[in-house]
Amino acid sequence: MAGTAKTHNLRVDGSRLWATIAETARFGATPAGGLNRLTLSPEDGQVRDWFRDACQAAGLTVRVDALGTQYALRPGRDASRLPVAFGSHLDTQPTGGRFDGILGVLAGLEAMRALNDAGIETEAPLLLVNWTNEEGSRFAPAMMASAAYAGDFTTDEILDKTDAAGITVGDALDAIGYRGTDAVGDQAIGAFVELHIEQGPILEAEGLTVGVVEGGQGIAWFDGTITGFEAHAGTTPMPRRRDALLGLAEIALAVERIARAHAPTAVATVGEAVIGAPSRNVVPGLVRFTLDVRDPKSEVLDAIEAELRASLPAIAERRNLAVDLARIWRKEPVPFDPGVIAAVDAAAESLGLSRRRMVSGAGHDACNLAGRVPTAMIFVPCKDGVSHNESESATPADCAAGADVLLQTVLTLANA
Ligand code: GLV
Ligand code: MN
Ligand code: MN
Ligand code: MN
Repeated sequence: MAGTAKTHNLRVDGSRLWATIAETARFGATPAGGLNRLTLSPEDGQVRDWFRDACQAAGLTVRVDALGTQYALRPGRDASRLPVAFGSHLDTQPTGGRFDGILGVLAGLEAMRALNDAGIETEAPLLLVNWTNEEGSRFAPAMMASAAYAGDFTTDEILDKTDAAGITVGDALDAIGYRGTDAVGDQAIGAFVELHIEQGPILEAEGLTVGVVEGGQGIAWFDGTITGFEAHAGTTPMPRRRDALLGLAEIALAVERIARAHAPTAVATVGEAVIGAPSRNVVPGLVRFTLDVRDPKSEVLDAIEAELRASLPAIAERRNLAVDLARIWRKEPVPFDPGVIAAVDAAAESLGLSRRRMVSGAGHDACNLAGRVPTAMIFVPCKDGVSHNESESATPADCAAGADVLLQTVLTLANA
């Protein structure tokens, strides 16, 4: 086995990692400097091809499962051991940044390259993963491939999900050539570690480099429909109107009031709102909207849903509208594994990096993996805590520090 000193002193090549982030940012680049790389889009296909080629050039064996998730394996000395896995996602929001998800995958690739350069073999095999559709903005729910991996959905349930244009996940996979042949969940994993930008302001505000993530908060997603009546904007007196958009305005304000009543942890967002047949001179008769509610406690998710539902009949009655609110997804809060958390903490300690424990506000594939394998996450700061925005930014030094923590954590787990 490689000498312990040799592995402890191993560091990633921070400039190579940074160059790789820039190199892949051409796939789906937006004029404002961000990325629009919706899952299973042509741009997602391009970055997947790039990733496959880069992994193969690093000597990894790449497989693709029936939901398009890519697995790149580096053999270990002991083939009977389950691989230590790490990675994240390469898809983005429609106005996404260059780091959300991407950092975790490319830092994993950099870790593999650093091990190759140093000629280090690990005991357990290593597995780098690019999970399909983490973001959930084209196909709901978010993190669907890792959820299927963990057994929360069947593969067919996911393949049949549709986007706004009615295209199924299965057809979208075929369109970019990424419907693989491996059964989802067949690739065994011994432990999972995900590096990600924090996507919130805490590390930066406290001047810390590393977040040792102890778990993820709960998430509930809803689809809402408000039905009123389309009518002439010039002739319909105000009291006679059944304006679905004004119903949404009241509902959105109720959502804000209720979330604030569960401060400081709860957050709730109406992120999509579509008028059925939008026209400047028609009173909106139909509005569809989405709602995203999050809190670290299941009971708070329950309470927010109950309070919101209790407020709907009065709004509907006052405005003579029909309101339907369907919960389409719920992800319970997840605690991560104490052993993997401790390995992340020890890695940050050995690298002399400042750190704190924290709970993830964002959803991550790691939150699904945690249901099946020992899992934890590593966070690094992002500028002003901004994410899901084209201006998302992180420093080369923080990205390299996070990648070093990932590398040392993986070495600990794989050589234990
Ligand atoms: C995905 O990025 C989420 O946290 O909603
Ligand atoms: Mn992400
Ligand atoms: Mn995201
Ligand atoms: Mn996310």
